[in-house]
Amino acid sequence: MRVPRSAVVGSAAIAAVLIGMLVGFPISAAKSATTPAQGQKATPGHGGDHGVDPRIIERGKGTFALYCANCHGFDGVPNLPGTPDFSRGEGLQNIDAALINAIRFGVRSMPGFDQTINKEELIDVVFYIRTLQR
Ligand code: HEC
Repeated sequence: MRVPRSAVVGSAAIAAVLIGMLVGFPISAAKSATTPAQGQKATPGHGGDHGVDPRIIERGKGTFALYCANCHGFDGVPNLPGTPDFSRGEGLQNIDAALINAIRFGVRSMPGFDQTINKEELIDVVFYIRTLQR
């Protein structure tokens, strides 16, 4: 028995819709889940904002400009000899807790900022300095 052409086209269309419903949804959901957040650099690893809320980075930038940039440089390239070059990842190898400790209480020739910046500013600036590495 010959199947009418219109029936073949029709069932193909229905199959396409069904497959689209089954496959299309998870694909589009996965896509949106992996789309980089606004302002995030596409390259993973060092540099970029690591998907951190851009408002945190912006606040950290302000704190850094106010209290840190005179020694560390606005772009992380230091103005003061003996200061780690954040743009090259120097001083950033340690985990966040170690950076927080250094910033709060000072480290060797660097003064501490425990009396100067609050906890929120401290966290924001740690996220920010990690974005300076290129
Ligand atoms: C007076 C200059 C000066 C200022 C201001 C300053 N730093 Fe530093 N910072 C240094 C120097 C110098 C070092 C290197 C200390 C050493 O290893 O002897 C350093 C080191 C660091 C390190 C690496 C610590 C480690 O464990 O090696 C971090 C992180 C850091 N600074 C963050 C900051 C942040 C954030 C601010 C602002 C809140 C800031 N610094 C302000 C001079 C400064």
